[in-house]
Amino acid sequence: MKVFTTRVIPEEGLQLLQRAGFTVTQWQEEKEMTPAQRVQFCKESDAMLFAGGEKLDRAFLEQCRHLKVISLLSVGYDNVDLKAATELGLQITNTPGVLSNATADTAFLLMLSVARKAFYQHKRIIKGEWGFSTPTANLGIDIEGKTLGIWGLGNIGTVMAKRCKAAFGMKIIYCNRHRNEAAEKELDATFVGFDELLQQSDVISIHTSLTPETKEKFNKDAFRKMKPTAIFINAARGGIHNETDLIAALQDGEIWGAGLDVTNPEPMQPNNPLLNMPTVAVLPHIGSATQETRNAMSRIAAQNVIAALTGEPVPNPVNHLYNL
Ligand code: DGY
Repeated sequence: MKVFTTRVIPEEGLQLLQRAGFTVTQWQEEKEMTPAQRVQFCKESDAMLFAGGEKLDRAFLEQCRHLKVISLLSVGYDNVDLKAATELGLQITNTPGVLSNATADTAFLLMLSVARKAFYQHKRIIKGEWGFSTPTANLGIDIEGKTLGIWGLGNIGTVMAKRCKAAFGMKIIYCNRHRNEAAEKELDATFVGFDELLQQSDVISIHTSLTPETKEKFNKDAFRKMKPTAIFINAARGGIHNETDLIAALQDGEIWGAGLDVTNPEPMQPNNPLLNMPTVAVLPHIGSATQETRNAMSRIAAQNVIAALTGEPVPNPVNHLYNL
């Protein structure tokens, strides 16, 4: 049996696949393969482990319906047309659970970096601007005791809320499709509507998936309802905010700052005005990028492939989520 990976994957997953007796072909180049190359690799394989690349749309999936599984090296599955995959009988799997801590840590890092203007202060040193300082210049804001609003209190959102409560005694409010009563008890969290979340939060942190319902939900109307002292954090998917509206909201002082691990579009261009704003911190989508987490993700992605190719039920299917 043959497995094709769209990027070089961490060693643990690769070894599992090889020990299971599969021939693994990895795309080694540091540039994107063409759509025709991708189809060709898939045609020569029984499974694809998708570790990054262009969206898997219906046209692509139709040409690769012979695959026993497309195993995503991510918890997010917004880059696949799940409805088409399901209609074509193609199994899609993801890597849930193992990246919650690393991704929440990234949101936490961004929150503090924005509050203390850390990325901007670092740039000042590089530009030789440390020089003369005064007690009133370049001040940040405190996080202690403030209100954290979580949009999407699932695995990652819960870790972020725990970190913020333990470190800074933050009050937790959240907005979800459904109430999360276990988390409410554990975190003393309050369930609120979307507008209340916008109006009451000092920090809003996004931890939901990108769906037609959440697409660009953070737009000019939403930013206008937030506090002028608020910090907006997105470590989920860039498509959840409208970047032009975010830039305007920051320039007009409708919100105080923003921390982004994901941008809209990706990659962000180097001349994006967000990169020169003192109260903005941007990272290049590294939420899950620790050695331990990426190894765990590659192990789970490999286990999904092994199950599919040996006729076992896959541990982490996502097809059933397409109409949620
Ligand atoms: C995920 O797993 O969804 C991360 O954002 C990496 O894409």
